[in-house]
Amino acid sequence: MNIIIMGPPGAGKGTQSAKIIEEYKIPHISTGDMFRAAMKDKTPMGIEAQKYVDQGELVPDSVTNEIVRERLAQYDCENGFLLDGFPRNPDQAAALDVMLAEKGRKIDVVLNIDVPTDLLTERLTGRRVCRNCGATYHIVYNPPKVDGVCDVCGGELYQRSDDTEEKITTRLSLYFAETKPVIDYYQKNGILRTVDGTLGMEHVYEAIQSILGGGN
Ligand code: AP5
Ligand code: ZN
Repeated sequence: MNIIIMGPPGAGKGTQSAKIIEEYKIPHISTGDMFRAAMKDKTPMGIEAQKYVDQGELVPDSVTNEIVRERLAQYDCENGFLLDGFPRNPDQAAALDVMLAEKGRKIDVVLNIDVPTDLLTERLTGRRVCRNCGATYHIVYNPPKVDGVCDVCGGELYQRSDDTEEKITTRLSLYFAETKPVIDYYQKNGILRTVDGTLGMEHVYEAIQSILGGGN
């Protein structure tokens, strides 16, 4: 199944994606994760992306579309894929339609995790991420067993550079201006399925499972 997961910053896209890819055995194509990996490795693309990511702004489409195109080309996509964080504006959505048409594929379902704005700042400022394996925690809703240490790999937990209140404001306003129209586009196409993201993580996942059906 070819899936897109959407929702505002902090809605729980990464959290739910980790569960989906484990059960459905499909690759997770997260533009945010790809940018952060490139920033960590200080590749030329990472150095370019960092200027935007650190400010909570969108990386230019020319860069973003190209990394998605390359990543999609790496998979035969037999079981499908999960796109997270892409497309994020109408031009990216149009570019994705072209990329998929070239492969004779289409998106089957767009999961829209709906969370009101007032909950998002608390989720984002409380988020901690493992520097080593990328596992995500929350200081209140999903704390690690040992403060500051990843349960999975023992790595150090850090706070993302764009998880400050100022950057969150920028990210949210970009979401409403640029990304919301993409959600409307998929709604019109009849493939959007909205999930209540205010529930606990497990309940959100149950709602997703009931949309996607059983795993492979
Ligand atoms: P990206 O990494 O995609 O960030 P985002 O969309 O802002 O989403 P987040 O990762 O912040 O949130 P999430 O929804 O995954 O929430 P999570 O599961 O972690 O993009 C980062 C940057 O990269 C962009 O700003 C841009 O610069 C660049 N970029 C990326 N894609 C781009 C594109 N296509 N074009 C241009 N630029 C691009 O959960 C958040 C917290 O809440 C966690 O602590 C979690 O534990 C907790 N939580 C999750 N679910 C629940 C729940 N149900 N109840 C309670 N707490 C919960
Ligand atoms: Zn870890």
